Amino acid sequence: MNDVIKLLTNHRSIRKYSEQPVTDEQLESIISAAQGASTSSNMQAYSIIRVTDQDVRQRLSVLADNYSYVMECPVFLVWCADLYRLRQAYQQHGDPEQGYFGTMENLIVATVDATLAAQNAAVAAESMGMGIVYIGGIRTNIAEVAELLKLPKYVYPVFGMCIGYPDQAPGLRPRLPREAILHENTYQPDKLPAPLADYDHTMKEYITRRTDGKRTSTWSEDMANKLKAPARMHMLRFLESQGFLEDQEDLDK
Ligand SMILES: Cc1cc2nc3c(=O)[nH]c(=O)nc-3n(C[C@H](O)[C@H](O)[C@H](O)COP(=O)(O)O)c2cc1C
Repeated sequence: MNDVIKLLTNHRSIRKYSEQPVTDEQLESIISAAQGASTSSNMQAYSIIRVTDQDVRQRLSVLADNYSYVMECPVFLVWCADLYRLRQAYQQHGDPEQGYFGTMENLIVATVDATLAAQNAAVAAESMGMGIVYIGGIRTNIAEVAELLKLPKYVYPVFGMCIGYPDQAPGLRPRLPREAILHENTYQPDKLPAPLADYDHTMKEYITRRTDGKRTSTWSEDMANKLKAPARMHMLRFLESQGFLEDQEDLDK
């Protein structure tokens, strides 16, 4: 195992940070790493908002499921899928009303671009001894978050990310056995039950240990509970209000 693979397989989310600051130079390296990620057709359809204003940060931490670490972490970044800048580029060469920006395909492109860039940033930060946690919680009150960050049309916040030096050392969270996620040539549903049963066993042990016996559920139980209720059902309407997917029905005709 080389050092990069060691780093990647040693990831754990960090939710408590020390006072040690992240310097501007370090943050520049993290952002350069993010920009080095692959990007669909070189569209670079993402933007990053660094939130330094304490009032905005406070508001965001409340909007994002009340996570205290959003307020407390040294650096908080919001990763946005962004077709607005591409619309600006288009405008230099034609009437943007004739262009297609908020289509389902572009929504996927921009979401993937933002995610790849963010994961590069995460790895860069971890390579410098820092820790990170993604914050999907910013989608819980996404309209308020978009307003707070003054996001224009064709931009949406995919997730936030806390970055800083760890003040905790959580255990490594076991992942699914490889056989459950890796197929050869075709999808093989018959091969799933055995590794899922193994993983349930592993996770039950892990969660019992991590919570001193307060929780003893298996992974499949946790997932079933999660998927019993709809989550963030406002997303479609919000995305439409930001200019995404609004022409989809006309285009389908
Ligand atoms: C897109 C995304 C959104 C996430 N959102 C949150 C969040 O809002 N709050 C949180 O505490 N953790 C969040 N996480 C962290 C996951 O819970 C964590 O990565 C997962 O449980 C695996 O644990 P590990 O990262 O320590 O290996 C998020 C992770 C991802 C990839």
